[in-house]
Amino acid sequence: MKHTQKSLFYAGLLFLAAGCAQNNINIVPEPVQVKPLSGHFTLAGNTPLVFQNIEETGPTVSYIREYFSTHFGVENNATNDNTEKAITFSLTETADPTLQEEGYELLVNENGITIKANKEAGLVYALQTLYQLAPADITRTNPSTVTIPAVAITDYPRFEWRGSHLDVSRHFFDVDYVKKHLDVMALYKLNKFHWHLTDDHGWRIQIDKYPKLTEIGAWRVDRSNVSWKEAKPPKEGEPATYGGFYTKAQIREVVAYAAQRNIEVIPEIEIPGHCSEILAAYPEFACDDHPYVVEVRPYWPPKAILCGGNDDVMKFLKEVIDEVVELFPSAYIHVGGDEAVKDNWKTCPKCQQRIKKLKLKNEEELQSWMIRGIEQHVMSKGKKIIGWDEILEGGVTPSATVMYWRSWVGDSVIVKAIRHGNHVIMTPNAYCYLDYYQADPKTEPQEAIGGFLPIEKVYAFEPVPAGLTNEETAFIKGGQANLWSEFLYTSKNVEYMLLPRLLAMSEVVWSPKENKCWEHFVEKLPAQKKRLSALGYTYSDKVGLIKDQPADME
Ligand code: ACM
Ligand code: ZN
Repeated sequence: MKHTQKSLFYAGLLFLAAGCAQNNINIVPEPVQVKPLSGHFTLAGNTPLVFQNIEETGPTVSYIREYFSTHFGVENNATNDNTEKAITFSLTETADPTLQEEGYELLVNENGITIKANKEAGLVYALQTLYQLAPADITRTNPSTVTIPAVAITDYPRFEWRGSHLDVSRHFFDVDYVKKHLDVMALYKLNKFHWHLTDDHGWRIQIDKYPKLTEIGAWRVDRSNVSWKEAKPPKEGEPATYGGFYTKAQIREVVAYAAQRNIEVIPEIEIPGHCSEILAAYPEFACDDHPYVVEVRPYWPPKAILCGGNDDVMKFLKEVIDEVVELFPSAYIHVGGDEAVKDNWKTCPKCQQRIKKLKLKNEEELQSWMIRGIEQHVMSKGKKIIGWDEILEGGVTPSATVMYWRSWVGDSVIVKAIRHGNHVIMTPNAYCYLDYYQADPKTEPQEAIGGFLPIEKVYAFEPVPAGLTNEETAFIKGGQANLWSEFLYTSKNVEYMLLPRLLAMSEVVWSPKENKCWEHFVEKLPAQKKRLSALGYTYSDKVGLIKDQPADME
């Protein structure tokens, strides 16, 4: 080989070694197709925003206008004829099949910016991409100096379910933080906010028919000055002052805020376990007369369970669901179903009587009977249920969507569920539990629950289990990052665990598998972090690698 040929050959090998060098455009999640062009567009404070084929008084346009005002300093009252050097958002008259429900096309050149989508969701995502094309510290920049590189982008998601879960029971986070969480989800094109509203450590949603759920169930004694692991149980008569809940008005506000960002809010109401807070408020729903409290500390095994033999419990659950469905336009209600320790059911005469009467084989089937009863009720309201993968244990109807989380059980249970007709959302703890350490605990600024999940491992997550046919693959709705909050006392603690690992998850669930590239992702992180800083988010500065797992954590 001649010298030049040889260098070209080695350059090619290097390219292959990097595996995936793509472009110098910094967008997370990596779009489907990016074509850098020459030149740029300069934004001015009076750059016209033009809307075509879209309801100008609707929530999406108001979101876009507000976004330009906040982030780009662009305020305008342009009319639709003023398309010179404008930013034009248009909805297609005839749907472009490539763009599907949430995709978009974005073209930036010297003459302006044009954005096209089939649905408003696509316009919202084009806006996020546009924002990421602007300088990373744009919130502190004079808009007259902002230049956007010329580029043509076509983009749409790999999965319809791109979730972020937040536990607000173990610690309560107020509406302002929830909105900030939704903002960062939107920035990275995540579209399902799984709101874990009830658990042993606090009930967080106003229910008019059962006021003690929030009067009693939302409050616990304050142990916020000690590590979660060190907290001592409540003393006799000690006041319960720590906690909080969302009023119905606040929930509606959050749901509307999310909808503007193409985010569906899925409430989770835990059934039948993880319910100490319900039993503290309504002890009559327990199997026993053990005094329950709103828990303040690690609670394991979580033995509190709603009595499966008491008709009033089913009535209670259905009446709670009635109020929940009124608040959430989501197609789904998550009904939990995880880690329900059934010891109490084994010794409860009412539960045993129900098992006998219904000719159920065991307590797992009693749980299934309860979940099915609730599912029928949820379906009568035009919605579907999601449950953690334990709902498969005593049998489940094909209409239930299963959220897989127990990596150690193995995804063969998922393959089986799919063959049974169930849709599945993938959140295996080994890849998706952002409450795990992202670096060596000895170097971390805050305590975590344990585990080791560096960002590289989140990035390596593949939501589709091996061995599925194409038809079966269609039953995988997508994936989700879960954030349990035992060790997260403040919203800064939450952000630190969430960011930047959520960015890795966004690329897992949005980008085509063949566009994923760890090296390119790592190159993109510094500018993303700069942007997150400018927006006021806390994040981890470590780029944790799988090989960094300390030997004593294996
Ligand atoms: C879970 O982590 N218990 C769903
Ligand atoms: Zn019972």
